[in-house]
Amino acid sequence: MILVTGGAGYIGSVCVERLLAQGNEVVVIDNLIEGNRGAVLPEAVFVEGDFGDWKVLNKIFTQYSVDVVVHFAAHASVPLSMADPAGFYQNNVINGINLLDAMMEHDCKKMIFSSSASTFGEPQHTPIDEDHPQLPINPYGETKLAFEKILYWYHKAYGLQVNSFRYFNASGASEKLGEAHKHESHLIPLAIQAATGKREKLEVYGHDYDTKDGTCVRDYVHVIDIASAHIRAIDNLDKHPFAAYNLGCGVGYTVDDVINAVQDISELKVPFEYVGRRAGDPAVLVASHKLAEKELGWKPSYNLERIVESAWKWHEAHPNGYHGNGEVSTVR
Ligand SMILES: NC(=O)c1ccc[n+]([C@@H]2O[C@H](COP(=O)([O-])OP(=O)(O)OC[C@H]3O[C@@H](n4cnc5c(N)ncnc54)[C@H](O)[C@@H]3O)[C@@H](O)[C@H]2O)c1
Repeated sequence: MILVTGGAGYIGSVCVERLLAQGNEVVVIDNLIEGNRGAVLPEAVFVEGDFGDWKVLNKIFTQYSVDVVVHFAAHASVPLSMADPAGFYQNNVINGINLLDAMMEHDCKKMIFSSSASTFGEPQHTPIDEDHPQLPINPYGETKLAFEKILYWYHKAYGLQVNSFRYFNASGASEKLGEAHKHESHLIPLAIQAATGKREKLEVYGHDYDTKDGTCVRDYVHVIDIASAHIRAIDNLDKHPFAAYNLGCGVGYTVDDVINAVQDISELKVPFEYVGRRAGDPAVLVASHKLAEKELGWKPSYNLERIVESAWKWHEAHPNGYHGNGEVSTVR
């Protein structure tokens, strides 16, 4: 049995879908603060609960023979972390230790962890490889880095096997599952919402960066590619029992490129406005995925066009996200 924390969230739900497709049994824990019950396929066991709650975890580990924990659950917004560092340390670090201790108590010693590119901070060179210094510039990145370090010491002291992934910009959708954050801050869904009139306009932060059109450059990686890296990592743990990999395509696109792609694919106009830079936004963030390719045999398979196409298709089929039309499963 595989325990997926945050499996009702965006990336977690797609990973659950892929794990199930490969014949795995999956139990999801999610407190639905950000996720959607309708994003958890009915073939998975769903436990509505908090991974900071020892009793709930103890019950799960007692009831199911959990071999691996895939740990997505976290507070994941940079701007929210600037306003509430305490909440981020509580959820991403303290609750994480609770999860690790429950795992150790029940002799479950394998974890795949969702870290983040935000652990790197301002890029000192690009593309960013795994040797790049990790100097986060916001509480979100700090909490992810803190947890990576905690994982190292659990590995050393207690034999925890762990692969961490530092995703760049997760994006795109599967046929059934897509991006529907309650507090949306990601460019592609925001651009789609603006195109479809769900929001008045898209605000583009900064138009004076040293890039081809003055807008920020980011590396977009498809959520299905991310899920496939996790599945490969489960088999990688015995060979590489403590490893961290950057997940990106190695190609950067500006905000204007993304807006143009959304306009081309949707055949709709994206109303947008250039506003001032946002604190803590580096001009360019592009990953090197050479290590993931070498050790996991992982390569991204979606380019920006296919990423936006899949996101657009999902939003067209699920105009209300997981609410109302287009729910993939009903609440049990
Ligand atoms: N989306 C990205 O581009 C991106 C980039 C880098 C890293 N990440 C990391 O990947 C992971 C998943 O990201 P996402 O975009 O799918 O986010 P998400 O918010 O959609 O998913 C996180 C899920 O965790 C759940 N959750 C949060 N705290 C919980 C708690 N205490 N107990 C139980 N459930 C809890 C939420 O309800 C949500 O369903 C996060 O750890 C995030 O930091 C995401």
